[in-house]
Order: sequence, then structure tokens, then C-alpha cells
Amino acid sequence: MSVTLSALLSPLAAKQQPLRQLFAAEPGRAKRFSTSACGIYLDYSKNLLDEQSWQALQQLATQSKIRQLSKQMQAGAAINNTEHRTVWHTRLRQQDLSNLQLAGEDIGAAITACQQQMAQLIDDLHAQRYIGYQGKPITDLVWVGIGGSLLGPQMAVEALTPYHCSPVNLHFAGNIDGAVVSDITKKLDPATTLVVVASKSFGTEETKQNALALRQWFNDAGADSNAIAHHFWATSSNVKAAAEFGIIEKHILPMWDWVGGRYSLWSAIGLPIALMIGNSAFKELLAGAAAMDEHFFNAPFSENLPVILALLGIWYINGFGCQAQALLPYSHYLRLLPSYVQQLDMESNGKSVDRRGQPLQDATAPVIWGDAGTNGQHAYHQLLHQSQLKVPADFILPLQVSHSFADQHQRLAAHCFAQTQALMQGKTEEEALAECLAAGMTQQAAAELAPHKVSPGNKPSNTLLLDALSPYHLGALIAMYEHKVFCQGAIWELNSFDQWGVELGKQLSGPIYQAISGQADGQFDCSTASLIKRFLQKP
Ligand code: F6P
Repeated sequence: MSVTLSALLSPLAAKQQPLRQLFAAEPGRAKRFSTSACGIYLDYSKNLLDEQSWQALQQLATQSKIRQLSKQMQAGAAINNTEHRTVWHTRLRQQDLSNLQLAGEDIGAAITACQQQMAQLIDDLHAQRYIGYQGKPITDLVWVGIGGSLLGPQMAVEALTPYHCSPVNLHFAGNIDGAVVSDITKKLDPATTLVVVASKSFGTEETKQNALALRQWFNDAGADSNAIAHHFWATSSNVKAAAEFGIIEKHILPMWDWVGGRYSLWSAIGLPIALMIGNSAFKELLAGAAAMDEHFFNAPFSENLPVILALLGIWYINGFGCQAQALLPYSHYLRLLPSYVQQLDMESNGKSVDRRGQPLQDATAPVIWGDAGTNGQHAYHQLLHQSQLKVPADFILPLQVSHSFADQHQRLAAHCFAQTQALMQGKTEEEALAECLAAGMTQQAAAELAPHKVSPGNKPSNTLLLDALSPYHLGALIAMYEHKVFCQGAIWELNSFDQWGVELGKQLSGPIYQAISGQADGQFDCSTASLIKRFLQKP
């Protein structure tokens, strides 16, 4: 791209009328700037966006490589160019898998076989037919994995709590912090526990160490190698390493190079989800994502949810210089969504070079953060409303809920809508003054307090209404954010599917661990050397 996005968009951004004025001038604004697909309604009218800017953004999308790259993706081209990999996570949720070939391999058959193997395991666990090495049925499953091998299943399992139907309890072990496995093993009995080691590479240190700790726990309980083989499963593309660990071949669920870690919950990495909600509800999750794929691949950009969200994100990052994006689900069950999207977005697009390795001229992915509303209103919303930072926010609210506290759901919705309204319109000093006087304050007291009560407003937000937080709608929601990230990567012309930046820290931890554990001396900068020394001298 010859002109930077920032040079293109910032003059337009500087010309935007305040949101209050835009709303006053356009009674039809909510209708003009809203759309829906797959049971998700998006109101993006509360964005700092006039018609001219929106047209410019649409044009940016049309001139970008979104369509070209998505066609290449569908065709199986190695669009993850630094790792020479096809990007086919969308195929995992494709409803008709017949005749799906990649390089002469029947991928459709491979996906179907994996889904059947997963379904069989889940049926056995649900029916309490999986009997442990001491003759007792399995009651607990420990899922060992990190990053993409953890965040998706953990978020979706939590999001679909009302659909849980498993007699088997689920536990996640991600962090290398020994406290995690320690807490889990204190509560469980190896004789009734199944361990699934989820690692695409089967080389991730955290996962290996937690798996080793759990294997030791079995050993300590007197389990022999046959017992361990019976209780350990894996999901990995590195069959050799999983086998070396002691996992028998029929217990290794496949993963493929063409599924990126952070896009893998649709594969056998989704096993915890299927375990907790059952096989048919898991299929609904896939169906919702597939419906969003159809929408993304076919809908015109002006109605295309992922494209619209991608353009708005770029508008704020490159037009306004925003560095953060809040994700605020007004749903207790969706409270892990921000952590999930953090990896999806920041690991995909947090890059400094384009696909050819040339320095990027524009800033890319935002810092994603957030938590469930209304909790955040009593914590960080103060900053959203009154600080000088502009943090675009996505508010997400399911319309139907599974609980019977209807009034509380109405109140939750009222808060969600009120937040977007408050961010949009703000409160002027005149309004604050009038409010103080109406509350009976003296003129002087009111004048002193009013400036503190001013909210500048003009803060952008999207509101996403889900028909319900069902497996189908959750699938569509996740796929929507996946494609949003894809579109942004296409516009910035970077590779959204590698993550070389995480390697350096991993490399450096090796020599530090060697020094800490007394296996080798190392040469370190003075800060790191003194931290190691302090660690070794711990009180
Ligand atoms: O360190 C980053 C990362 O490679 C992620 O991209 C990935 O999701 C995670 O580690 C776990 O990787 P694996 O499934 O190979 O253990």
C-alpha cells in the first residue's frame, strides 16, 4: 500500500461531528448503521462515523485483499506463508464434508473419523462405560493444554453452562504454576480420572510439565504403565512425541497442520465442550460457525458482520490512534470471551512486518481487554466514561436467557444499553450544573462540583445482541470474531496465522531455568542476573 492507512483515515477521523450531533441530525441512524446475520444483531450507529467516512472504509475493504485471501484460504493455499501452511479451520465446521481433498488426502474423511472417535469417547464417558484401572467408572477428566489448546474450550464450556449434561467433571490445567496441578490432584483420585494432553505440537513446556506431573501422580498411586496408558489420551499432530510420552495410538486424536492453535476449538481441542454439552449440542456449535462462514464468504461487505467490525477496528486504530479495544459481554457466562479474543486477535495481528517481511507502516492489533458487565461498571468504566482515552467497546447481550430471573435480565439489559448511551452522549457542564441545582445544591457548590460530573461522551461502541447464548449462536459469535481478525490481517497485509513473537521468551527461559536449577551457569544482563540471584537466595 503506497499511502498509509493512518494518512488516509486520520484526516477523515478529524472531521467527524460529535456523536450527539450525528444522532440529532439523523433520526434514522440506528437503522442505517445496523445489520444482522446468524442470530446476531449489530448496532454500530454509536460510532464516530459519517456517511462519507463509512463509504471510504467500505472502499478500503473493496480494494483490500479480503476477497482474494478468503478465496485462497478456501482453496487450501498456504496463506500462512511463513509456516507454509493451509488455513482450514473453517473446514472443521463445514456441514458437508464429502469430497474435501487437500493435496490428494481425503480431509473430509479424516475430520469425520476424528469427530466419530471423539463422539464415541464422550458417549462412553456419559454412559459411565469408561472403567478405570481399579474397576471404577471415570468421574473426572483433566484437560492439559495452554493457549489455543485451552482458551477456546474453557471459554465455550463456561459460556454454555446451562447446557451442561455430563456426569463427568472437567478440570483445566494450563499454567506451568505447580499450584494448578497441585489443586487438581488434591481433589481427585487417579483411579477415576482421565487425562487428556492437548497440544498440537506436543512440545509446549507448560503442557509437558503438567502432563508429567499428572503421570507422576498416577505412578505415586501405584498405577503401572498399562494403567497409565488406559487413563491418558492426547490430541496432537505430533503422534510420535505423544507416543513417546506413553500415549497409545488409539488414544491420540488427530490435529492437523492446517489448524492454527487459536482456531482449534472446532477440532478435537473442542472435546471438553462436547463432553460438557453433549455431542449433538457440539454439532450445533459447529453449525453456528458454519452459518457465519457462509455469511462472511458471501454477504456484501456493507452487510457483512466480520467486515464491518474489522473496518471499525481499523478506523479507530489507524484513524484515531486508539490502542485498545474493550470487549464487554453483558453475560456472566461469556465472561471468558475477552481472554479468548485476546489470543485470537493479539496473537494473530500483533505484528510489525507484513507478509513479505517488510516493516508495517501502520499500527495493527489493539490491546483487547474486558470482563462481564455489570461488574466492569464498578471497576474500569470510570475510565471509559471520563478519561481522555478513547477505547472503542463491543457490548454483547444475549436476548434470551436460561434462568428464570426475568427482572434481573431486564436490569442487565438496561445497564448495557445505558452504558452505550452514556458513552455516546456524555454529560455537558450545563447539564451537570442543572442536575446539581435540581438536587438542592447552592449555586457555588453546584459550580464547584459540575466539572467533575462532566462526561465528554463521543465515545464509540458497538452493541451486539445474540438471539440467545445457545451453542449455535456461540459458534456464530466466535466465527464472527475469527473472520474479523482475518479481514484486518488482510487489510494490513500481514500473516494472521503465525506467532513468531512468542518464541524469544521461550528460548530465553531455557538458560535461565538451567541457572536457577543449578544445571549450568549463564551470562545474563545485570538485571536478570540479580533476579536469578535473589530467587536462589529466597527467604
Ligand atoms: O506459545 C504460543 C502457542 O504456540 C499458541 O499459538 C498455541 O495455541 C499454544 O502455544 C499451545 O500450543 P500447543 O497446542 O502446540 O501446545
